Amino acid sequence: MAGLRRLVTAFAGVPGIIGLHGGLPPASAFPITELTFTLKDGQKIVVDDPAKLAAAQQYSMFTSGYPPLHRWAKAHMLSMHAPPAGVHDMIMTNGNNQTIEMVMRLLMDKGDAILQTMESLRAAGKPLPRLLYTVPVGQNPTGVVTPFERRKEIYALCREYDIILMEDDPYYYLQFSPEGGQPKGLHDLGRSYLSMDVDGRVVRMDSFSKMLAPGMRLGWVTAAPALIEKIIYHLQGVHIGANSFIQVVVAEMLDGWGPEGFEAHVRAMQAEYAQRAAVIQAAAERHLVGLAEWQAPAAGMFLWLRLLGIPDARSILDALKDSGVVLVPGRFCHCCGPETSKTCPYLRVSFASATLAELSEGMARLGAVLRRFAAPAGSSAQTGAPTSSAASSPEQVPASVFASSGTGAQQAGRAAAGGIRALDSAFELGGGSEATAAGKKGAAQQGSARSPTLCLSREGPANVMPDCCAKVELLNASAAVSEDALAPLPAKTVAGVPSHHLGA
Ligand SMILES: Cc1ncc(COP(=O)(O)O)c(C=O)c1O
Repeated sequence: MAGLRRLVTAFAGVPGIIGLHGGLPPASAFPITELTFTLKDGQKIVVDDPAKLAAAQQYSMFTSGYPPLHRWAKAHMLSMHAPPAGVHDMIMTNGNNQTIEMVMRLLMDKGDAILQTMESLRAAGKPLPRLLYTVPVGQNPTGVVTPFERRKEIYALCREYDIILMEDDPYYYLQFSPEGGQPKGLHDLGRSYLSMDVDGRVVRMDSFSKMLAPGMRLGWVTAAPALIEKIIYHLQGVHIGANSFIQVVVAEMLDGWGPEGFEAHVRAMQAEYAQRAAVIQAAAERHLVGLAEWQAPAAGMFLWLRLLGIPDARSILDALKDSGVVLVPGRFCHCCGPETSKTCPYLRVSFASATLAELSEGMARLGAVLRRFAAPAGSSAQTGAPTSSAASSPEQVPASVFASSGTGAQQAGRAAAGGIRALDSAFELGGGSEATAAGKKGAAQQGSARSPTLCLSREGPANVMPDCCAKVELLNASAAVSEDALAPLPAKTVAGVPSHHLGA
């Protein structure tokens, strides 16, 4: 592959060159001769230019991306982040999950560790990690936005210890003010790590998933040229570049919108999420005061609840199922999730996909469950001791919502592995927006009188984007490396990337 690429590069631009080198189907063999799609605002986009249709149906001729889209993304990245000149390059990808996987593959060796928080970095006496992975905006699962001062400190630490910083920022555009006010559009979205990166150690991942739709599987990565070069080799060997078809569709769509139309779309999306966040915040204040603690979300899709008097959120899963509401126990988002000896009093509430009425009703149902489980003030709950009979010690906390239903053993296994998807089958949910309907069907089949299961576990409102919930599992997999296995960092770097991370 690398040899072929060098050949193509060497012959590129030779006048009158006849290409007999590529294994590419002829454009005349492609089935689609015109493409028409309609945007939400009624605008119709017609793609009938043979060159565009051929590009959409051909292998990615440019591994860095379909040129019109690559140009858009590069200009957009420069205007949003203004990174120091000459330090970075960028290419289109199939979304951030793919980029995370690629970067991990390229930079990590077996036994290397990755940290998700700086706390562990500071843990005394530990050798240092090579890579810091962070989600600075609307973090999944906590919903937190890292303040700029904190980002500066983190970046400075990465420079001091020569750590590569992976900035995974899919919720960057989903920022809103918890106090209400006008949507931010493309302004005041905060300074990224990329914007302060003077030595090419930041690998920034942007995604169209939350900004347009996750089913598009499209994003871009910005990093030091030396790393981008390696990613391109990897892409060529494994994926042959980002999906051509959707790149052409998105390029045409952005062109049809123009800069104002694009910003109007971002504003509309921010307004939608702001409304959802306000509804969940109001519902939490109505139903959860004294039962849980939280911060009003200012970005992303999640409200992160710390339950009071309930040491492990897993202990209320059966009751939640009976009440017909599904949320994600915090342990599912933690690399120690499968360890039953550890307790985790957090719940992740997604305000992204349920209807506004369901958000309120879901929180009411959660509040009723928490009231049953939490000990009254002044009791053992205040000292953090378990309060439900089912949760008398961490080891006894049951995961029976998984073990008791349908294919119990299988579900218990998946729950033990910390998979959010286990919730879907345990709660008899279907996919995406059908979740509620599936819950209704499940209840009807059981002859139960309870109302349909409300799904507050998913990411993405059905009217903005479809469901996508694999992220946390991937994070768990990549982070589940013992800190004891940390390897010392080499001193030598290439444009901020330790040279041995890049291979020969
Ligand atoms: C923190 C984080 N990174 C990445 C992703 C996935 O991004 P993409 O759809 O671009 O692969 C998600 C979505 O669930 C996420 O929460």
